Amino acid sequence: MNVTVFGAGYVGLVTAACLAEMGHDVRTVDKDPDVVAALTRGQLHIYEPGLAELVERHVAGGRLSFTSDSAAAIDGSEIIFICVGTPTRPDGSPDLSQVEEVARTVTAACNHQVLVVEKSTVPVHTADSIKRTIELFSDGAGLCEVASNPEFLREGTAIQDFLNPDRIVIGVASEWARDRLLSLYQGIDTRIMVTDVKTAEIIKHASNSFLATKISFINMISDICDRTGADVRMVAEGMGLDRRISPDFLSAGLGYGGSCFPKDLGAFVSIAEKLGADFSLLKEVQSINERRIDNVVEKLRTSLWVLTGKTVTLLGLAFKPGTDDIRDAPAIKLIERLAAEGATLHLYDPQAAENVKRYLGESGSGGAAITHGTSTGTTAVGASPTAGVAQDGLRFFDSPYDALAGAHAAVLVTEWPELLGLDLNRAREAMETNVLIDGRNALDPVAARAAGFQYVGMGAGHE
Ligand code: UGA
Repeated sequence: MNVTVFGAGYVGLVTAACLAEMGHDVRTVDKDPDVVAALTRGQLHIYEPGLAELVERHVAGGRLSFTSDSAAAIDGSEIIFICVGTPTRPDGSPDLSQVEEVARTVTAACNHQVLVVEKSTVPVHTADSIKRTIELFSDGAGLCEVASNPEFLREGTAIQDFLNPDRIVIGVASEWARDRLLSLYQGIDTRIMVTDVKTAEIIKHASNSFLATKISFINMISDICDRTGADVRMVAEGMGLDRRISPDFLSAGLGYGGSCFPKDLGAFVSIAEKLGADFSLLKEVQSINERRIDNVVEKLRTSLWVLTGKTVTLLGLAFKPGTDDIRDAPAIKLIERLAAEGATLHLYDPQAAENVKRYLGESGSGGAAITHGTSTGTTAVGASPTAGVAQDGLRFFDSPYDALAGAHAAVLVTEWPELLGLDLNRAREAMETNVLIDGRNALDPVAARAAGFQYVGMGAGHE
C-alpha cells in the first residue's frame, strides 16, 4: 500500500521503516530539512537497535523515502499516519498543536478517499477533533476518515515490538477503515483487536498508566522491604507466579522515566479531570515515582553522611538500557539533586552521555565546567554557571573504571549489560571508599560484598 507517515521522530521512523520492511511504499514527512537530508543519507538522529540497517536497506531499495514536501508525500496516499510529537504543557495536558497542523495539511489529500490514522499518543476525543479540523479546512469534502492505531513500542526493542506485537489495536468508525488497516497489517501474526475510535485511544493511555502503576506499587513494597529486611526481588517473584499478576514490570528501583510514562500519566490525569473524574490513584503513582530519587539520596547520606565534597559515580544515564534517550531519566534528577548537595559527579553511559552533556548545557544546569575525563586527562566540553551545580562538578568518562576512580560511592542507574558485567574487584580498587548503591537491583549482592563493597539495594540485598 502507499503510506505516508508524518513525523520522523521515534515512533514515526520506526513505523515507517517497519511498514517498508512489510513491503509497503512509505513516504515520511518531517518539517526539518536537515533531518530529512540526514535520513536520506542513512544517518539517524536517534539510536534504536536495528533501525539504521532497516532505514538504509529500504531507502536503497526505494520503498522508504523522506521529504519536507507534504503535498508530494500525501499525493496518492492510501493511509496517512500521524506520528508527530505531543509534548507536555506546564499543566500536564498534552500540546496537540503539531497534530492539528498535520490535520490541516492532510486536507489536501482529501480529493480521494484516504484514511488518517493517529499513532501519536493522544487523549480520548482527539480523532473527533482531527476529523472536525479536516472538514473545516477542506470545505466539508469529507473524503478523509480518521482512525486510531496506538503504538506499543518499547525503546530498545521497538522493531521487534512492531513486527511481533502482543496485539494490534485498531479503533475505527467504519468497515472500510477496518478493512484498510487489516490489509495494512496482513502478514503480522497476532491478535488484532478492532474497537471504536475512543476505546482505542483509551486503551493506549490505560495500558501505560497501568504499567507505571505496577512499577510504583513494587517500589512501595521495596520501601517496606528496606524497613523490614525482606527482599523485594523475591516478593515480586512470589507475586508474579500468580498468572493474574504476572512477573513483568515488577522490578523495583529508581522508578520509571522516558518519553512515555511520565508524559502519558500526566495527560491521563488531566483528561480525567476534564471529564470530571479524579484519578487520584495515578497522582499517587506519580508522586511515589518522584520520591525514588529522595530514596537514593537518603541511602547515599546514610552511607557517606555529608555529601558536599564527596565524589559519586553514576553508572548509566539513559532512562533504561538499549537507548540513548534521557528524557525524564532518573539520572538527570539525580545529577541535579546531588549537584545541589555539593557532590562531585562522575558520569558514564555507553550511549547517552552526549545527550546529557547537551541537556545540561542547554538547560543551564551544567556546572561552570562540565568536563570530559579520560584516563589521560580532562578536557572541557562546555557549559554555563548555574545555581545548584558545583563548579567543576560534572565529569564525563569513556570507561566505567575511569569514572569510578577516586569515587566515594557508585550508583547503578541504568542496568546496561556492560555495567552488569563489570569486574567488581577492579571497580572496588578504583574507588576511594566502597559504597555501591544498586539503583536497579541488578547486581549480585553476594559478589559485590565479596569484592569488598558495602552493597545497598533498593529493598533488596540486606545482609
Ligand atoms: C513504554 C511502554 O512499555 C510501551 O508499551 C509503550 O508503547 C511506550 O512506553 C510508549 O508509550 O511509547 P518505554 O518508555 O520505551 O515503553 O519503556 P519501558 O520498557 O516501558 O520502561 C519505562 C520505564 O520504566 C524505564 O525507565 C524502566 O527502567 C522502568 N521500569 C520498567 C521499571 O522501573 N521497572 C520495571 O519493572 C519495568
